Amino acid sequence: MKGVVLAGGLGTRLRPLTAVTNKHLLPVFNQPMIYYPIQTLVNAGITDIMVVTGGNSAGDFLRLLGNGKAFGLKHLNYTYQEGEGGIADALSLVEHFAAKEPVCVVLGDNIIEGNIASAVRAYRHQGSGAKIILKKVTDPQRFGVPELDGSNVVSIEEKPADPKSDYAVIGIYMFDGEVYDIIRTLKPSGRGEMEITDVNNAYIARGDMTWEELDGWWTDAGTFESLLYASDLVARTGANKMQLTQEEVGANV
Ligand code: G1P
Repeated sequence: MKGVVLAGGLGTRLRPLTAVTNKHLLPVFNQPMIYYPIQTLVNAGITDIMVVTGGNSAGDFLRLLGNGKAFGLKHLNYTYQEGEGGIADALSLVEHFAAKEPVCVVLGDNIIEGNIASAVRAYRHQGSGAKIILKKVTDPQRFGVPELDGSNVVSIEEKPADPKSDYAVIGIYMFDGEVYDIIRTLKPSGRGEMEITDVNNAYIARGDMTWEELDGWWTDAGTFESLLYASDLVARTGANKMQLTQEEVGANV
């Protein structure tokens, strides 16, 4: 499985902090924001990673991250999103890199306390289709929100005024090699972007979507309030804590 960190966009909700740099290079407590999603992938055992960036500060990612030595990697891949096409448009740029392998996609402003290793392992067993990760939130209107029927996701609405559950679809997704064909069928949304929610709804329509709930806290960091909240959470409790896998737990007893 390959890893993708989406770190493009204009970061308009964080202006003027993003007037001269990319949102994902801003600090979250003691690290640049992009360190957290890369570490999320590495902690799940995913080491073949592509960073998708864009805008005027793209070169700074190379200067900051290089070949990923800070994460114990030997190599990092980069690609450049021209324009402002949205999350699904950015994902379409990794088709060649992914070479039909499944991908785990992390939005560059999503930070978690724990580890997604068990979700990644479950998706590997699933073999095809897609998997999303959900977290209960107090402000679902800000996110993609699922309608659930037992263990089934019925649909996802992007930033609904009247949410059908109190779960957010967090910005960590697993897709098989069909995702690029799905993206090619999409039309831009009201905000002029190709929405990841439309990609997820296409997998739901095919009956090929699973979900699980994340342990530990999760936050995005794309607004002033959530950026402050993220820094505070990381400072107080730490992020990307390694958790032992079931196999490791077994091996240690
Ligand atoms: C994006 C997705 C949304 C998801 C959120 C998670 O929203 O569109 O479905 O819940 O990321 O961070 P955006 O931050 O682009 O508004």
